[in-house]
Amino acid sequence: MYCVRTVTDDLYWVGANDHRLHLFENIHPIPRGVSYNAYLLMDEKTVLFDTVDWSACRQLLENMEHLLGERPLDYLVINHMEPDHGASIEEILLRWPQVSIISTEKSFMLMRQFGFHVDGHRLVEVKEGDTFSFGKHEVTFIAAPMVHWPEAMVTFDTTNGALFSADAFGTFGALDGKLFADEVDFDRDWLDDARRYLTNIVGKYGPHVQLLLKKAAGILDQIKFICPLHGPVWRKDLMYFIDKYDKWSRYEPEEKGVLIAYASMYGNTEAAAQALAAKLCEKGMSNVWVYDVSNTHVSQLISESFRLSHIVLASVTYNLEIYPVMYDYLCHMKGLNLQNRTFAIIENGSWACRSGDLIQKFVDNEMKNMTVLNERLSLASSLSDSKAAELDALADALLDSMSQA
Ligand code: FEO
Repeated sequence: MYCVRTVTDDLYWVGANDHRLHLFENIHPIPRGVSYNAYLLMDEKTVLFDTVDWSACRQLLENMEHLLGERPLDYLVINHMEPDHGASIEEILLRWPQVSIISTEKSFMLMRQFGFHVDGHRLVEVKEGDTFSFGKHEVTFIAAPMVHWPEAMVTFDTTNGALFSADAFGTFGALDGKLFADEVDFDRDWLDDARRYLTNIVGKYGPHVQLLLKKAAGILDQIKFICPLHGPVWRKDLMYFIDKYDKWSRYEPEEKGVLIAYASMYGNTEAAAQALAAKLCEKGMSNVWVYDVSNTHVSQLISESFRLSHIVLASVTYNLEIYPVMYDYLCHMKGLNLQNRTFAIIENGSWACRSGDLIQKFVDNEMKNMTVLNERLSLASSLSDSKAAELDALADALLDSMSQA
């Protein structure tokens, strides 16, 4: 059975939802599922914008067959060929062999590299600024390299103002019938997943997102719909989401607040993290979030690290090193290019406390534009009453730093 939604007039969402996949890219948990969005334009020519993951191909085909009826598919625009969107290209070619594929040179190269059998079909290579007419609808192609792969482009329909934005403006989460962002309480129910998606998938490529946002700024007044490849379509309050993307890709925190991430073996480092959280709240800063790195997926830690201005790392020393799960979190922050945060350190060790120095070294040497506060809370096995002044000083240092930012 088909399952389609009308975006506007002659443009339809023909994608699919996936609640079966547990790990997106086999790494990021998606408890709320994910959608693979594809769009069908029924102009004088028929045009499919992107395909879907192989697991959702049957739904895509049913949706297309329902809308196309006896009409052929004339064009397939591939904005992003990564297999969660491009895996069904060959199936489209089998069913509509006369279709012309429009994409970038790099995209065709990657399709061949992945073993997609596209040669022998009509391939139309486009680049930045090229235009194309499908009848009533005229589109222009805009290069979007590294958002999120090097071949990516976005397509702007100058007739109806639809921006097919590829991975940009995507989110985790299955649509489950609700196509538009204004059909859900996005801020309450979707923003965390949107941030987790962007920061973990494209976080490393902030400057490239910025480049795309600058291009979009030039046509902002003409954009009426943002049609991403994952998550809801935007037709209202576009600036709300564009602003979020702008902040995330500039590595600017959304909120003044404190993320306390702790690595604790027997609960003593955890107790120090909790004591600091209570102290901060007591002093009036209640935007405090405490996470155990051992039972919080690193994609969530990353998302929170992008959201908040201050990060306290509380780690036990383990085999004379940083606790491995904490180290993994640090490596993810580095890999995703997180910048412009203020760190504080709580260290613990029963006979050779080294985690604090090692964390400091990592942040100073491996990360960009970070500040580490001088005040450090150092524990020998547990937080004793004698540390009350140090705990207080650490809380004050965090508050001072926040007041100056
Ligand atoms: Fe949703 Fe970069 O693929």
